[in-house]
Amino acid sequence: MVLRVSPSSFSFDDDGRLRAPEGREQAEDHARLALAAQVLAYTSLPVAFPTETVYGLGANALNREAVANVFRAKGRPSDNPLIVHTSSLDMTRTLVAGGKLPDVYASLIDQHWPGPLTLLLPRAQLVPDAVTAGHPSVAVRMPSHPVARALIALSGVPVAAPSANTSTRPSPTRASHVHDDLRDRILLLVDGGSCDGGIESTVVDALRTPPAILRPGGVTAEMIRKVPGFQDAVVWKKKGEDPDGRVPPSSGEEDEADLEAMAPVTPGMKYKHYAPKVPVVFLLSSPSTYTSTVSSACSEVSQVIGILRTETLPAFSFLSLPLTSPPVYLHQVSLGTTHAQVGSNLFHALRECESVPGLFVVFVEGVAEVDEGLAVMNRVRKAAGDTVYV
Ligand code: TXA
Ligand code: MG
Repeated sequence: MVLRVSPSSFSFDDDGRLRAPEGREQAEDHARLALAAQVLAYTSLPVAFPTETVYGLGANALNREAVANVFRAKGRPSDNPLIVHTSSLDMTRTLVAGGKLPDVYASLIDQHWPGPLTLLLPRAQLVPDAVTAGHPSVAVRMPSHPVARALIALSGVPVAAPSANTSTRPSPTRASHVHDDLRDRILLLVDGGSCDGGIESTVVDALRTPPAILRPGGVTAEMIRKVPGFQDAVVWKKKGEDPDGRVPPSSGEEDEADLEAMAPVTPGMKYKHYAPKVPVVFLLSSPSTYTSTVSSACSEVSQVIGILRTETLPAFSFLSLPLTSPPVYLHQVSLGTTHAQVGSNLFHALRECESVPGLFVVFVEGVAEVDEGLAVMNRVRKAAGDTVYV
């Protein structure tokens, strides 16, 4: 069942309380969302819902069976822990050992919650092992999307939610993406339109020194380093990456030693990720290299090539291609001109490529690894399985 609600029907007062609906349409949206909230609070059925980053697949974080159902629906490995979503600081404190948020996070929370920021916190006993995959910390975030926050507030329970895609697929930024991946596996999908952020939350661990950004995301490293206590925050990197975060081109085989090194940090980063059903090739160089790389791919095939453009790649025209027989067709998409736009459109564009008849490979143009570009490049690399043209 799909429950459609408008994000504008939900708002919060300064004390973080959900405001009562005004008018019939808002009241109907509140009633629809209350139904989803009851399913979350009183059953073990997963509920998909929008956040400001991507759609999540939610379960009552304190209900082991509901959490197990989320892992099952996604086909997610059980050693990859879930982020718990809360609607208030009071709810967040219930998840933390000793009931107190570590002081180190005070300014970060002040400036970036609610928002696309996930914090590692010492885990209270009541958080089930399945949620944290046995880790001593629990990852928590308070989403700013009005539908997500209202759903959690109405349910009254913290909501464990990974992205609502089948494991390894690109994260869903629209209800239709969730439907495509999970329609046979979930009963309830709250459709609140498309997610503006498009890239998942930043995961920060300040329980270690110096603080580490375990996964780049919606809140940029530059923003985090402006917060008192976080000037020296490091961006955690996979072994083998150079200081600019570039991974040498590889066969796509994961290095066992790398997996070992990653395991204790943020387990999700070790898995194949964000991969659409067509191969992705990541272009990391000058426009002239793009032109020759794409042109030579064109001369070898007789089908359709996807090109996701960002900053510098000029739009290709049929005239700029070498004469080929049979002809090659290009599916070209501009992801936008700012890094934020590219992040917002990336996963949708990758998924769209899957439905273009005859499309057999997608080239994605890289962006500079600054601001939102850091998270964008992290996701493109994973989608490409590190297949990089330099
Ligand atoms: O924006 C987001 O973060 C979205 C929306 C739905 O909130 N959620 C999301 O969840 O991206 P997921 O499960 O796809 O990614 C969660 C990441 C994984 O890399 C996981 O390993 C890491 O967070 N993580 C979760 N709990 C952790 C923990 N206790 N310690 C270390 N890493 C953790
Ligand atoms: Mg995910």
